[in-house]
Amino acid sequence: MIAEPHLFVVLGGTGDLTMRKLLPALYAVVSGGPCHVLGVASSDVGDDAYRSAAAQALTASGVPTDEAAIWAQRNVSYERIDRTGELHDLAARINAVDAEHKAGGNRVIYLALPPAIFADTIERLGRAGLAQGPGWTRVVVEKPFGDHLESARSLNDTLHRYFAEHQIYRIDHYLGKESVQNLLVFRFTNPIFEASWNRDRVERVEITVAESLDVAGRGAYYEMTGVLGDMVQSHLTQVLTLIAMEAPATYSADAVRDEKVKVLRSIREIPSEAVVLGQYSAGTVDGLAVPAYRDVPGVDPGSSTPTFAAVRVWIDNWRWQGVPFLLRTGKAMPHRMTEVAVLFRRPPVCLFHSVVDACIDTNDILRLALQPDEGFSLEVDVKEPGHSTLLRPVQLHFSYAEAFGRIPDAYETLLADVLEGDQTLFVRADETEEAWRLYTPLIEAALAVHQYPAGTWGPTESTSLIPEGRWLSGG
Ligand code: NDP
Ligand code: BG6
Repeated sequence: MIAEPHLFVVLGGTGDLTMRKLLPALYAVVSGGPCHVLGVASSDVGDDAYRSAAAQALTASGVPTDEAAIWAQRNVSYERIDRTGELHDLAARINAVDAEHKAGGNRVIYLALPPAIFADTIERLGRAGLAQGPGWTRVVVEKPFGDHLESARSLNDTLHRYFAEHQIYRIDHYLGKESVQNLLVFRFTNPIFEASWNRDRVERVEITVAESLDVAGRGAYYEMTGVLGDMVQSHLTQVLTLIAMEAPATYSADAVRDEKVKVLRSIREIPSEAVVLGQYSAGTVDGLAVPAYRDVPGVDPGSSTPTFAAVRVWIDNWRWQGVPFLLRTGKAMPHRMTEVAVLFRRPPVCLFHSVVDACIDTNDILRLALQPDEGFSLEVDVKEPGHSTLLRPVQLHFSYAEAFGRIPDAYETLLADVLEGDQTLFVRADETEEAWRLYTPLIEAALAVHQYPAGTWGPTESTSLIPEGRWLSGG
């Protein structure tokens, strides 16, 4: 892309996210353009050491070593800050780097920091005058955005004290995934599906985000969020809104987000009977032994933090009244798979009843595979060739990889949008609060948490949420 000149200030510049995701994504988006990165953290690292670390991070992501070193040397600097002090020195350094590298006064300030210090850091940025600059200033806030409704509200209040909403980019990286962005294109450019996308034609919708990864290495973080805060409130709920929303008046940030918020406001209060929580015990994933969640460093040995959730949601609006949406996600499941399965209603009568005995299983299913094998398939019934009338389900299949090859990483898309000032794929303040409104009572209710062995599809109790006791995706 052709970006305007800018300074990309990343607080948390030495962290895992910056090294593994942000620098490679930024390089992919603006490597030839006028972007200067200022990494900021409290470690005592000078410009040279930071440039080497940045170059290594780029090389690890596949950038040739020489190119990575040259780019880091020209386009990367580092500033050490005190963990608690004021940020006036940082402001002075930003002005100096801006002038030296002709960044035009435009700034992205990316908070790649531990969530516990988001609010304090925003205050310090504001007090140092960094919320406004000579050009545009955009602040990017990583997830999790709060850990319940009150903390999300408070974080929004803090942000709004210094930044206008149009400057704020709340990240949910699922929105940057091509397959997730495609949900709106798929729905609103193919009337053949949109005409069936309602309570008359759809029996239920399942959204599954299965992760084979366990919590290893992130025990302390996970103890704070659990699966409801880490995955359900954010990624699964975002996918739900894209599946359920009405067509926006225009494809613009506020029009799209207005429609998503309407979906959230239409969701009925979720009773505890509609939720099954689980926590993985020791087991095996991909042939490798996985220790129990309670044995992960940083996790309380008596922890009841859930690592699995299945939630049944009802949307009380004209389009979806009476159609259950089932959200399911878990750690340490048999394999990685994110899928939306739309189960269409059966025909009102089975015309072939007299000649086949298989009329009972004739629901069509649309499977939108969001990762890892992005694409979709539509399961329909056909007649098997031959004299007798035998019905058989077959798949109409589309694969992103086969059609288009490489798919950009979500962070590439999101960073490009930040640089272009497009907020469509970012979560607005009211969206975060409406999503927390749904799940905060469940987090506070201390619901039962069932054990499931790592390498299984979660506690068997989860099937109680589904009429026929069998999920459409995975197991
Ligand atoms: P890390 O712990 O790896 O990095 C944290 C960074 O913050 C380090 O650069 C650290 O540097 C800096 N830091 C910590 N405390 C302070 C402070 N008081 N003042 C200034 N700098 C500080 O975390 P991650 O990179 O993994 O995560 C960062 C954010 O990104 C989190 O919000 C996380 O939820 C989110 N995220 C991360 C993902 C990932 O894959 N890593 C994925 C999705 C979201 P130093 O110690 O030198 O100060
Ligand atoms: C992050 C969660 O936001 O998303 C992690 O904090 C989770 O717990 C990750 O593993 C999943 O992302 P992806 O893109 O691998 O599905």
